[in-house]
Amino acid sequence: MVQSPGPAIELRRVSKWFGTVQVCHDVELGIGQGEFVTLLGSSGCGKTTTLNMIAGLEDSTSGDILMSGRRVNDLSPVERDVAMVFQNYALYPHMTVAQNIGFTLRMRGMPREEIRRRVEGAAASLELTHVLQRLPSQLSGGQQQRVAIGRALVREPRIFLFDEPFSNLDAALRLKMRAEVKQLHEKLGVTSVFVTHDQEEAMSISDRIAVMYRGRVEQFGTPEEIYARPASRYVATFIGSPQIDLMPGVVALGEGRAAVRLGTVRIDLPPDAERFRDGQKVEVGIRPEHVQLGSEGIAATVRLAQPVGPATHVVMDWDGGTLTATIPGFARLQPGSSVHARISPGDLLVFDQESGLRL
Ligand SMILES: Nc1ncnc2c1ncn2[C@@H]1O[C@H](COP(=O)(O)OP(=O)(O)OP(=O)(O)O)[C@@H](O)[C@H]1O
Ligand SMILES: [Mg+2]
Repeated sequence: MVQSPGPAIELRRVSKWFGTVQVCHDVELGIGQGEFVTLLGSSGCGKTTTLNMIAGLEDSTSGDILMSGRRVNDLSPVERDVAMVFQNYALYPHMTVAQNIGFTLRMRGMPREEIRRRVEGAAASLELTHVLQRLPSQLSGGQQQRVAIGRALVREPRIFLFDEPFSNLDAALRLKMRAEVKQLHEKLGVTSVFVTHDQEEAMSISDRIAVMYRGRVEQFGTPEEIYARPASRYVATFIGSPQIDLMPGVVALGEGRAAVRLGTVRIDLPPDAERFRDGQKVEVGIRPEHVQLGSEGIAATVRLAQPVGPATHVVMDWDGGTLTATIPGFARLQPGSSVHARISPGDLLVFDQESGLRL
């Protein structure tokens, strides 16, 4: 009987302590064969530590790591058949691009002809063919980064691990490399785990995202799930630009339609209001693109209008605090002008004030 190999990577209650400090708490992840998963979170939340434990560069303190159903806790990085691309991709300065890409293969004693075939294949995928005989100092930053990816690629590993590989590049180049890595993944289909603190990068590149916070996985889901149905206030604020506006409110059931009171304003709740308790203290999250400006709704005063080209972010003050609206095109709104803002009930994200979990 043929057994299904199981998830490419599985973390079962993986914890990590450095001395007396616990930096990863019962991390659970199941990464499918060929999936592209991103570990996303702010600095120090445990992304690199988690990736290093998957790579075998760091031992876990407890828990199991499996690859295709096999426990790999005691296997070396080479035995796990993973290749890593780091932020600091130090290339050997005295070696050509071709020699840099083929270096680990030569170390392994692979036949010359096979090395040449793999190096040329990787160079073609990464559009480096015309620079193969150059030294790293004769390359742009993006080309150097692609050489680092090439080094991982030629190993033809079962798994790619990327730790903030683009953070040394300028904004335009980051966008380009992001697209290239995504296309490469679509072509090769190698299971990949990618670490970043950039939510937009994670959203644009991933099949699924694990949002980490203080060493825990807060939510593991597709970009759409994470964005539209964040599990917690933390996830909601971490994802989305401009940031979601949050304001404290109280649930008011039984006065006609279920609503939430924000200061003096009542906003209708979505129809399935049985999730809420009357008098429950909540925090209401409103994403800027869900706010419409018009002649009726919440009365607010424009504080600031920030055009970004295709849209304008309008920051407003009202009774309940601050509200941001993203509206198409260039909005000609002067600071101090009066506006009205409408939000449809279905777009509200409501969190329990105490637990921070979405209701
Ligand atoms: N070798 C170590 N010894 C002690 N503490 C460590 C060690 N490595 C990491 N830490 C701590 O573990 C926590 C998680 O670190 P980690 O490098 O995994 O974070 P990260 O999410 O990758 O952050 P960044 O975005 O800054 O790279 C941090 O508080 C860090 O200070
Ligand atoms: Mg890190």
